[in-house]
Amino acid sequence: MVYTPPATLLCVEQTHNLGGGTVWTLDELTAVAQTARQLGLAVHMDGARLMNAVIATGTPAAAFAAQTDTLWLDFTKGLGAPIGAVLAGSAEFIERARRYKHVFGGAMRQAGIAAAACLYALDHHVERLAEDHANMQRLAAGLRAIDGLSVDDRVDTNILFFEVTHPAWDAAALSAALARRGVQFVQLGHRLRAVTHLDVDAEQIDTAVALTAELLAGPPPETRS
Ligand SMILES: Cc1ncc(COP(=O)(O)O)c(C=O)c1O
Repeated sequence: MVYTPPATLLCVEQTHNLGGGTVWTLDELTAVAQTARQLGLAVHMDGARLMNAVIATGTPAAAFAAQTDTLWLDFTKGLGAPIGAVLAGSAEFIERARRYKHVFGGAMRQAGIAAAACLYALDHHVERLAEDHANMQRLAAGLRAIDGLSVDDRVDTNILFFEVTHPAWDAAALSAALARRGVQFVQLGHRLRAVTHLDVDAEQIDTAVALTAELLAGPPPETRS
């Protein structure tokens, strides 16, 4: 096709944010990576939440990585570090990537203090992602029991999308009313997204469910502050 740039890369997001934190299983990844290679494409995994997939499936990170040419992993998000991510690939690729990192202003010299937090996260915050996944199942079950919401059936990890079907409420109004009460469900289009992480416990999940139920059972949003 002369009008579009030639495709050279297949990028797989693990886990998939807008898909509701869904996991690419090793079989699925292997299949798409195989097709990509047949088409002459390199394979990159944006594994910002790779460890959520590891904990949800029991598949080692190395097995996912073996299907890719390059891989990105965040130590923030579920792993809870304040800053930090790594890019992995061949030595030659990393040498080029380091240069681009500097070209784009990504240099950080005294990075040891950030790296220490990332190492802590790897040592202490991987296994506990199972708690975030359990909390998300708890939230999904709680929200499913509320009239006026339509909650995604598939919940693989720590992300949940749901819609507001209540006649008097919409996603924006519910998100705003809950935010005023300390519960953050971000509005993305017509949907709301909830994410669990190490700063959210089961008690807070129950509070979020109770507040949501109370709002939707009460007076319509325009009469509330
Ligand atoms: C899928 C995915 N990849 C990459 C990033 C980049 O994160 P960071 O720049 O904090 O490493 C994000 C952040 O939201 C993300 O969701």
